[in-house]
Amino acid sequence: MDRQRPLVLDPTAADRRGEDAALRERGPLTRVDVLGEKVWAVSDRTLLKQLLMDGRISKDAVQHWPRYPDETRDWPLNLWVGVRNMFTAYGADHRRLRRLISPAFAGRRIAALAPRIEAIAGDLLDELAAEPPGTVVDLRERFAAPLPIRVISHLLGLPDERANGFRSMVDGVFDSTLTGAEAEANTLAFRKTLTELIDEKRSSPGDDLTTRLIDARDTEGDGTGLSDGELVDSLMLMVSAGYETTINLIDHALVALLTHPEQRSALLAGSVSYEDVVEETLRWQAPVPFLPMRFATVDIDLPDGVTIRTGEAILAAYSAANTHPDAYGPDADRFDPARDDRSHLTFGHGVHVCLGAALARLEGAIALRTALDRFPRLALAVPAAELRPVPSFLSNGHRSVPAVLAPAAPA
Ligand code: HEM
Repeated sequence: MDRQRPLVLDPTAADRRGEDAALRERGPLTRVDVLGEKVWAVSDRTLLKQLLMDGRISKDAVQHWPRYPDETRDWPLNLWVGVRNMFTAYGADHRRLRRLISPAFAGRRIAALAPRIEAIAGDLLDELAAEPPGTVVDLRERFAAPLPIRVISHLLGLPDERANGFRSMVDGVFDSTLTGAEAEANTLAFRKTLTELIDEKRSSPGDDLTTRLIDARDTEGDGTGLSDGELVDSLMLMVSAGYETTINLIDHALVALLTHPEQRSALLAGSVSYEDVVEETLRWQAPVPFLPMRFATVDIDLPDGVTIRTGEAILAAYSAANTHPDAYGPDADRFDPARDDRSHLTFGHGVHVCLGAALARLEGAIALRTALDRFPRLALAVPAAELRPVPSFLSNGHRSVPAVLAPAAPA
């Protein structure tokens, strides 16, 4: 097989499993075409982990991707590589920007959020319970989405309606079917809204992450703070990373249980836990299937004779790596919360590993437990085959999850 002929990734991700299999078949590392950019995609778990740990690989396009920005002006994913926050920062800049936010995600702080998350879930389930019996509700729109949005609003000190206003912009960040111009317009609107929010918060500060970041901006000069652009883009990261990803996790975990009655019974019998279900869902349906982009800062020779040249781009293929038969055996594609090896790379690995992983896991477990406790007969309202994926290779969720809370018992 000619590994130099790139596999063109489908921006609508109509057949994610098929595409993951095609990637793996081409070897641990292969050329792909990402909306016109030719890059290396890594789908082998061991190699991917190794590259994610490799200090010679950067996420900073400004410093390390010669094609950026002149050659990528119309590329719809420019924001993913051009954003100025920890997500793309390299070396000391990355440490500086991550250190400003990481205290908010310390283990005990996240654990302390549990009662609030329970209360948010309870309110949302109350709203669902108020629907007339037999009503079909969209679990994604009415439960999976508002839960993480309200949690992030709480962390950032935003009123809920403000947080909802970000929803379409976050959708735009994850939509791989936008044109370059549409993506650019979305980025501009997102930054403008965040700038307005920062101005408001400056005049009425609170005990929240937004205020702490503004304080860090205003003390810039001692080398520990952040610039205006970094402030806006750090808030953009918190909002974006905290919404779509966790929405997809809750969506897929609910659908997995509603379509695998034997696993639901195992959960209710206590032979697997809610945490097991969350972990296996993260492996089996990575909420962020591909993570753009990384760049080789020097030539990197790999064991099988391939060299990633300086300045070439690398795409982490998390979904394909998480379901690789070499790592998980022939049933890698099966949802099995009791499997021996549920480790995965869904949150990345190395210095850029997801800062919100513990929060996402907590939200996922609380969402599942509270929903199934309240509605023990919860069921899909359509055959599973009719659920449609979000049209994006960056976001793995369903467009909607129609469900009935308490289906009529069979006569
Ligand atoms: C299921 C939910 C989530 C998934 C699947 C997820 C996944 C990821 C992935 C794949 C990365 C990038 C790793 C890489 O560089 O390859 C990342 C980074 C990040 N995530 Fe998450 N994430 C989730 C939830 C969250 C939440 C709830 C937050 C915060 C509210 C968050 C905050 C971040 C931050 C700040 C980074 C950047 C870390 C860095 O570059 O140093 N994430 N996440």
